[in-house]
Amino acid sequence: MSALTPNFWQEHFDQGRTPWDRGAPSPQLLDWLNSKALTPCRIAVPGCGKGWEMVEFAKRGFDVVGIDYTAGAVKETKALLAQHALKAEVVKADVLVYAPEQSFDAVYEQTCLCALDPDNWIAYSEQLARWVRPSGRLYVLFMQVERPGAREGLKQGPPFHCDINAMHALFNSQHWQWPDALPTVVPHPSGWNELALCLQRK
Ligand SMILES: C[S@@+](CC[C@H](N)C(=O)[O-])C[C@H]1O[C@@H](n2cnc3c(N)ncnc32)[C@H](O)[C@@H]1O
Repeated sequence: MSALTPNFWQEHFDQGRTPWDRGAPSPQLLDWLNSKALTPCRIAVPGCGKGWEMVEFAKRGFDVVGIDYTAGAVKETKALLAQHALKAEVVKADVLVYAPEQSFDAVYEQTCLCALDPDNWIAYSEQLARWVRPSGRLYVLFMQVERPGAREGLKQGPPFHCDINAMHALFNSQHWQWPDALPTVVPHPSGWNELALCLQRK
């Protein structure tokens, strides 16, 4: 049983302790959008946080659905959308149980996986495989957080380190096509890096 609950995250929102938050959409998302690697479609943003990426998607005509189980996140995302006079669906739900009525063309995964206890990672990856339609895409940023203690076997987080071998095991070739190229390394405001890549659902 994980100690990570909506209350854990709500305290962060209440106390303004949101070190993961860029205060703007991720530069990697802007690269994907500006290069047309990601074009308007029906897309899910699990763990949407304060909603910066939601606003960017809505602005550009995506049919975007944000899913977050923390009341503060849902409230802030809705407020940010309203501030920009944009409409998008924001669902207050646990990503481990959320079941969309209609599948998605794509998922944008940014720091939701690393916010989950690894005990739930298999369940989460199975959810994403269910949400994305065949030939759909998973745009993902795998958080790299190698802390002292990892080599001694300590499980530390959130954010939990998304080791690339573990990611291959979770998003394996039975369900996902990986690109040949190495991921793009994206600096994160926390001082760590993310590995950005796009997987295709088989
Ligand atoms: C580290 S924050 C990242 C927020 C946003 N993606 C960003 O990059 O700024 C993690 C977010 O995931 C949400 N979250 C964590 N576990 C969740 C779960 N099981 N179901 C839904 N949301 C969850 C938290 O409420 C929080 O808003």
